[in-house]
Amino acid sequence: MRGKRRVTSGRKKTRIKAMIERFDEKAREAFGGRGRTVVRRGELMRHTAYTRVLHWTVALSFVLALLSGFAIYSPWLYRWLTPLFGGGPMTRLLHPWFSLVFTVAFAFQFVNWLRPMSWTTNDSRWMKRIRAYVTNQEKTEPPETGFFNGGQKLYFWMIVFSTVVFVITGFFLWFDDVVPRWLVAVSYVLHDIAALVMLAGFIIHIYEGTAAQPGTFQSMTNGTVTDDWARTHHPAWYEEVTGRDARSDYEDARRRQAEANDSRPKE
Ligand code: HEM
Repeated sequence: MRGKRRVTSGRKKTRIKAMIERFDEKAREAFGGRGRTVVRRGELMRHTAYTRVLHWTVALSFVLALLSGFAIYSPWLYRWLTPLFGGGPMTRLLHPWFSLVFTVAFAFQFVNWLRPMSWTTNDSRWMKRIRAYVTNQEKTEPPETGFFNGGQKLYFWMIVFSTVVFVITGFFLWFDDVVPRWLVAVSYVLHDIAALVMLAGFIIHIYEGTAAQPGTFQSMTNGTVTDDWARTHHPAWYEEVTGRDARSDYEDARRRQAEANDSRPKE
């Protein structure tokens, strides 16, 4: 009986996943004619124009929601941040709307990235060597690292859970005149914890997407990355899209570079 129920719920999950993917495919097709990505020699396509527009809509609305939220949260920041939004009352009015734009945009991004963000045993293994990743101890990622690594997936799922908390508690705070006082008090605490978690993740994310991993930022602007970036950071994805061996291509590229350096005239 229990086995039968498990099979039915498994089928339901597969059907929902297929529906989500069909929706995303249609959205991508509808958007496809408007934005193009130029892929040059030695580069691979990383993020479509649709994904990039979603990402930057999420980023902009998140920053606006965060700044307006912190302006309301802290009396010290209130003085500095509320003028940006046209004063205190206007900041209070705008904050839930920025947050709603963020939630809707992230819902589309969620659908867009659901498949590559699925957690696997490789990701659990990846998490065990997070210290080596953060301190850049190894030159290349483990061979099984696919389109996203475990850290990126963790960040994604943290946003999913925090956004659910934000939305539920945010509505209680927005309509606090019809909600019991204890629920409003609990919502304040949970809303603020979720905001601080998201802020910490956001700071790490900006660092990893720019200074820590050169070549990553262009994936969200041009939509492309170099072959070298792909085989270094996401070897399994590189092998999937090129059909080539990431490790030997990486070593060949290093050898060629060393030869080129040796043959350059010394000053
Ligand atoms: C404003 C500064 C931001 C910068 C410079 C930035 C940069 C990037 C870059 C370059 C990628 C692609 C990484 C790859 O292809 O491997 C990316 C992915 C992503 N971004 Fe952002 N982003 C920013 C803001 C945000 C915000 C505000 C959110 C959500 C609250 C967000 C959520 C994500 C997620 C979930 C991914 C995929 C997973 C990951 O790469 O960590 N980003 N971002």
